[in-house]
Amino acid sequence: MATNPKAKPSQGAERENQVRTLFSEIAPRYDLLNHVLSMNIDRGWRRRAIRLLRWQERETGRYLDACAGTYDLSLELAKQAGFRGSVIATDFALPMLVQGRGKLAPSVTPICADTLRLPFAKACFDGATVGFGVRNLSDLSAGFSALARVLRPGARLVILEFSQPPNLVLRGLYNFYFHHILPVVGRIVSGHPWAYSYLPESVKEFPGPTQLAALLAESGFKDVEWRWVTGGIAAIHVAIRS
Ligand SMILES: C[S@@+](CC[C@H](N)C(=O)[O-])C[C@H]1O[C@@H](n2cnc3c(N)ncnc32)[C@H](O)[C@@H]1O
Repeated sequence: MATNPKAKPSQGAERENQVRTLFSEIAPRYDLLNHVLSMNIDRGWRRRAIRLLRWQERETGRYLDACAGTYDLSLELAKQAGFRGSVIATDFALPMLVQGRGKLAPSVTPICADTLRLPFAKACFDGATVGFGVRNLSDLSAGFSALARVLRPGARLVILEFSQPPNLVLRGLYNFYFHHILPVVGRIVSGHPWAYSYLPESVKEFPGPTQLAALLAESGFKDVEWRWVTGGIAAIHVAIRS
């Protein structure tokens, strides 16, 4: 299938603009497509990511959900029984934040902000999550350093992101779905000509979990651990702010 050249992730400021525009344009259909195209598997991944955040160690804490989109990960934390803290949900595509506002819980505060330039004081968060966001950053190291800056020492960062299954058979099936079915369904439902071709392209170009863990260790984090979920379709990284 021919891929629109715009679906190829670019670099630097051009990539930031491309990503912000893309998510702003698909915002009205994002939730629907998210759950349909992932066949709802993403819900289980989000629950697991929030478990790994170990928020119970500071149940009244202040947590950041960066690249929050329409708040699915923010809300997964906010709705946990016993959670008495607050969640600041940031995203640089305002239409995504606006689109999700009907779902908002009182403990979640949306702020339109770029993950590479987080407008918060040093060490002011007790933990952070990023769900399917880091793959879109124009500069991964800068993003991790920005997250490290706003986390207090000892705070946990949990990253949920698409990956590529290590098993070749599963990878083949996954690539077929990702490159041939998902872009077509995505294009029909979202009405966007290339947004859902960008998704597989960006996953293909994204560093593997080991490389990502090494980058986190170089960017202000220690004790970095990661695991694949659902055979490696996605991976969850957990890192502790040094
Ligand atoms: C695939 S969506 C994920 C949304 C949500 N976290 C979820 O789990 O469904 C990626 C989001 O990251 C946001 N994003 C990408 N790069 C960003 C950046 N540099 N700063 C802030 N938000 C960014 C996009 O606008 C988009 O809403």
